[in-house]
Amino acid sequence: MSETAKLILEGQEHEVPVVTGTENEKAIDITKLRAQTGYITLDVGYKNTGATTSSITYLDGENGILQYRGYPIEQLADRSSFIEVAYLLIHGELPTQTQLDQFSNTIKMHTLVHEDMKKFFDGYPSKSHPMGQLASMVTALSAYYPESLNPNRPEEDVDLTIVRLLAKMPTLVSWIYKKSVGHPVIYPTNNLDYVSNFMKMTFGHRTEEYSVDPVVVDAMNKLLILHADHEQNCSASTVRIVGSSQANLFASISAGISALWGPLHGGANQAVIEMLENIKQDGGNIQKWMDKAKDKNDPFRLMGFGHRVYKNFAPRAKIIKKSADDVLSKLGVNDPVLDIAKEIERIALEDQYFVDRKLYPNVDFYSGIIYRALGFPTDMFTVLFALGRLPGWISQWKEMREEGQPIGRPRQIFTGETKRDYVSIEQR
Ligand code: CMC
Repeated sequence: MSETAKLILEGQEHEVPVVTGTENEKAIDITKLRAQTGYITLDVGYKNTGATTSSITYLDGENGILQYRGYPIEQLADRSSFIEVAYLLIHGELPTQTQLDQFSNTIKMHTLVHEDMKKFFDGYPSKSHPMGQLASMVTALSAYYPESLNPNRPEEDVDLTIVRLLAKMPTLVSWIYKKSVGHPVIYPTNNLDYVSNFMKMTFGHRTEEYSVDPVVVDAMNKLLILHADHEQNCSASTVRIVGSSQANLFASISAGISALWGPLHGGANQAVIEMLENIKQDGGNIQKWMDKAKDKNDPFRLMGFGHRVYKNFAPRAKIIKKSADDVLSKLGVNDPVLDIAKEIERIALEDQYFVDRKLYPNVDFYSGIIYRALGFPTDMFTVLFALGRLPGWISQWKEMREEGQPIGRPRQIFTGETKRDYVSIEQR
């Protein structure tokens, strides 16, 4: 017999179904609650609300577990490539060699961006933030592929749109960087792998040979894999809710990019480095900043610390912390902000405020340090997060679409004025 939960409202007992996931997660299904009782549930910030069932990513924040399609993140970061992980997330299984070759070759055939899109860059002021540029560029792709606007097109067409987006994103990101430094753009080199091609378009020069350091390729692959999906976070939920209105893939992903931009989500990687630099410029008094973070009257928060779902040292943070050490020593980079970061981490892990609230360093505490060592300017960091998150957003959008999920439309409890009569302006 399937499990149910009992709810007593106004003295009357109601039975509601219980849903159990494959990892034994439990949920009370309240879909019919309002129809049966007139009540809705209230959960501001969706802290305890399951917006969907999903078979993509499993995350256990208490025990520090993260798995894509069942595969532990540690194994994927160590042994897989970003493009293989993208296939896994989007198609549900690890590819055979033939499937992987085909996937990666098809992506290589679509890396060029329409030449007219280069003109868009001329319209942006030189200091415009790369995330704003990326969000608008991704939406603009829909103009070049109008067939993507049809929500009822065949699956092969949807797959082609997905491949186009995966293929063009590195080109767009690298061009945003090139424009920001006033250099001519570099076109894709399609005999290179996904990451090497991206690095060449970003850091190569038209007139010089460019070979990508394997240490750099490895670090980038790891970073992109670690960011590839994270179940129903702010940006993934945004992609799903925009997509649920049957908006096209480009528009849905662009909305996800905008959601990622904020410093409480993907923008944290930029905010972390800015914070570390501020602390350094301020004389390096770390305790002063720790005290600020703990002071409820001070809006300052320790960026790169805390997470909505992880209440433990997150698995991604563990992998990336080690990767940061490896990359910096292999590249021979000696970054003073790293010393500040290490000291903050040491203090926070012992400080009662952080211990009581289970605030551990998150992935973005370390990712910026690696991006910086690889030569990326700070305002490009969140764009790199978006590049990594793309296959996750796509798989969330695809799952929502394939399951024919209804349009997302939360309810509210109204707390404003009750009905009152309009008063003419002279009488107010
Ligand atoms: N510095 C100081 N205090 C903090 C911090 C922080 N970074 N994060 C949480 N707290 C305190 C918060 O003030 C609250 O204290 P109290 O219970 O006394 O009121 C308690 O910890 C719980 O915090 P919350 O705001 O209720 O937790 P949340 O789940 O709503 O927020 C968070 C999660 C990630 C937005 C938050 O921890 C934060 O703002 N962190 C800094 C920004 C950051 O690093 N974001 C990147 C997250 S990882 C990338 C991604 O996947 O998006």
